Amino acid sequence: MSTLANSAGGLAINGGTPVSPKPVPFMSTALTQADIDAATAVLKSGMLRAAKKCEEFEQRWGAMTQAKHTMTCANGTVALQLAYEPLFKRGDDVLVPAWSYIATVSMVVARGGNPIFVDANPETFQIDVADAARKITPKTTAIAVTHLYGGVADIDAVQALAAKHNLKVIYDAAQAHLATYKGKGLGAFGDAVTYSLYATKNLATGEGGFVTCNDDALARQIKLLRSHGETDKYLHEQVGYNYRLNDIAGAIGCSRLDRLEAQTAQRQKNAARYDAILAKIPGFLAPKVTPNTTCIWHLYTVRIADGALRCTRDEFCKALMGEGVPTAVHYPRPLPKQPALAAWDKKNTPVSDDLSTRVFCLPMHHDLSDEHFGIIEAALNKVAKAMRG
Ligand SMILES: Cc1ncc(COP(=O)(O)O)c(C=O)c1O
Repeated sequence: MSTLANSAGGLAINGGTPVSPKPVPFMSTALTQADIDAATAVLKSGMLRAAKKCEEFEQRWGAMTQAKHTMTCANGTVALQLAYEPLFKRGDDVLVPAWSYIATVSMVVARGGNPIFVDANPETFQIDVADAARKITPKTTAIAVTHLYGGVADIDAVQALAAKHNLKVIYDAAQAHLATYKGKGLGAFGDAVTYSLYATKNLATGEGGFVTCNDDALARQIKLLRSHGETDKYLHEQVGYNYRLNDIAGAIGCSRLDRLEAQTAQRQKNAARYDAILAKIPGFLAPKVTPNTTCIWHLYTVRIADGALRCTRDEFCKALMGEGVPTAVHYPRPLPKQPALAAWDKKNTPVSDDLSTRVFCLPMHHDLSDEHFGIIEAALNKVAKAMRG
């Protein structure tokens, strides 16, 4: 902590009284009795492999997101792998977001593709399609686009670029369950869409994922890759993997789907509440949403304006935690600066570099109460006042 920040009297980190001795929960992931009963029924049946519950989960997800085909799989990382493998070749250049979770890009590398990093829009955090257009090479055959934080990328712009350059489009919707673009579900767009069902996602089965697509031949290929290329019992048409889900997860997923729309609506109300709070605190910029989209607020990500504070983002977050408000940083490093991906860093994604120093996420989930918002608002005001630049 800097000397200046240390001198901020009254802050709990300096020995003052915290706004709340009990921290606001950062997320809400608890199972209900209905989820537990659904899982128990599968356990009692003894049918633990991917069967009826996974099929029901797939059908319901496809209907909810306007996708013709939905394939459950083991997690959101292999969902990307299953989508990438049929859609581009080894040695191809693939446009990827510099501002995303590592799996979007590491699975391009695992496939043998060369990631070309594209910068982010600083206000929506979604991929900057104009930057993608500048970075196309003669070897570029695909673009991977993340719908980040529950927001949605500018899909028309992505699709127009893809049509012009004959690119395959894979959308990573790991964080965007039930988000929409121009009133349609995300499954309606691109060549394939992938989702994660990891424990902290808006729709969670512990581990799990979906791939959706609208092309029959592609769906067949993905299903083959998911299960050792098996077309008949012990007949393997091609080499594949075991990336299947199981019916325990399928049953939990179906049960949680019953609540997802209501929980999403609650997240949207909470985001509006945050917008109103931040509008009154100078130096803190609320996230913007791409026009014609509905954001489902997996994360509510705030930017600290230049010169707003006389401390670092991390010092600010530590002081906020002291007052009872946990935060998270998605992400502390842009992907080109990850050691694993440094070989592809062209040092030309300045917005992502900058975001990594100034963003933080406030608690966001369907269980935030009036009391929680009271604590968060008071803590933000207290710490911002003490740390103002
Ligand atoms: C944008 C994004 N893509 C992919 C993944 C990978 O999903 P999983 O953790 O289920 O493998 C995640 C998970 O955090 C993610 O946020």
